[in-house]
Amino acid sequence: MKIDRRRFLAYAGASLTASQLVACGENKIATKGIPRSTFTGASTAEEVTEGIDLSGRVAVVTGCTSGIGFETMRVLASRGANVIGSSRSSKRAEEACRSVVGVTSPVSLDLGNFESVVQCAESIRAMKVPIDMLICNAGYLGGGNEKQLINGLEKHFVINHLGHFIFVNRLLDRLFIAEQGRIVIVASRTAYTDAPADGILFDDLNFSYDYSDLLAYGHSKLANVLFSLRLSTLLQGTRISCNSLHPGIIDTEIDRNFNPVMQFGLKMVAALGGKTLQEGTATSCYLATNAALATTTGAYFEDCNAVTVLGKNHMHDVSMSEKLVQVSEEITADFLVDQKYPTKESLLDDRSS
Ligand SMILES: NC(=O)c1ccc[n+]([C@@H]2O[C@H](COP(=O)([O-])OP(=O)(O)OC[C@H]3O[C@@H](n4cnc5c(N)ncnc54)[C@H](OP(=O)(O)O)[C@@H]3O)[C@@H](O)[C@H]2O)c1
Repeated sequence: MKIDRRRFLAYAGASLTASQLVACGENKIATKGIPRSTFTGASTAEEVTEGIDLSGRVAVVTGCTSGIGFETMRVLASRGANVIGSSRSSKRAEEACRSVVGVTSPVSLDLGNFESVVQCAESIRAMKVPIDMLICNAGYLGGGNEKQLINGLEKHFVINHLGHFIFVNRLLDRLFIAEQGRIVIVASRTAYTDAPADGILFDDLNFSYDYSDLLAYGHSKLANVLFSLRLSTLLQGTRISCNSLHPGIIDTEIDRNFNPVMQFGLKMVAALGGKTLQEGTATSCYLATNAALATTTGAYFEDCNAVTVLGKNHMHDVSMSEKLVQVSEEITADFLVDQKYPTKESLLDDRSS
């Protein structure tokens, strides 16, 4: 669909602002059976990790060079974790790692290039360490409403979902050998405010009929939530948990592809109803480290608490999550390790080898 540029400029910032503000009034309830925390949307990553000693623990944080990923790496490293942080540029990853206090290791990862994802995972595996926390944080949001494809696949879906899908698959056995591996997937509430009404567009993953950056971003973020949901089921009976989250609206570089009007719109939303970077990083760090969540899996979190989103959305759609993983496996088959989800028996073998 061709969009008139002036109309786009006039409405882009406003529509983003509107969708995010409307989301504040969404109907959500606390998810049953999951420990409630006293932390809120105003808690910071430092507060939620206060007193937690992460010495000897290993965390992998994708997208460590700016925004939420950088703050996540900084705080986890300050609590003693050895943090492996990724960027598309090894120079930027090195600079980011050097600029925080603690033990950090830079790695190169371009989620839009599946060979790069495999190489990065292999370089981490070569470190021969268990992974206690795998934080799938890196993300892309387009600007300009011009659909882009990577190897014939819609760019948001590739970077935000499929790249991480392969990355998790190839690192699973490192999580299995950790005392209690945690996968934390940084999604977004656009998964229910801006995703297509029908959810994942299995018959039209490339948006042939209707495209906007926000629609495709929401679609990819719904894929994040559903992947987490399905993974939690596939990993049942293991010590690995998997949860997804919305960090809040934070003024980061996520708007790097926006035009100035849209950047202004996002800044307004962040200023009016958003969070500071320190607050926006709290839920990721809470999910990665809090002892009360050792067995919590398959949940979606906002403001450091698990929520169930009511109304017409696909956030908790089990059959859609199953189909998403099946389709994602088919698309990325050449890049997955043979044993996609190891069984308990194979884990025991792995631990003894
Ligand atoms: N900020 C918000 O309001 C908000 C709201 C909801 C959800 N989120 C989610 O929060 C996560 C972090 O976003 P942020 O706000 O901190 O954004 P950010 O400041 O733009 O950081 C994004 C990170 O992702 C990395 N990245 C971008 N494209 C990549 C690619 N193709 N392959 C690998 N890494 C890539 C970037 O590293 P390099 O450029 O160095 O590679 C950067 O470190 C994202 O998943 C985003 O969708 C953010």
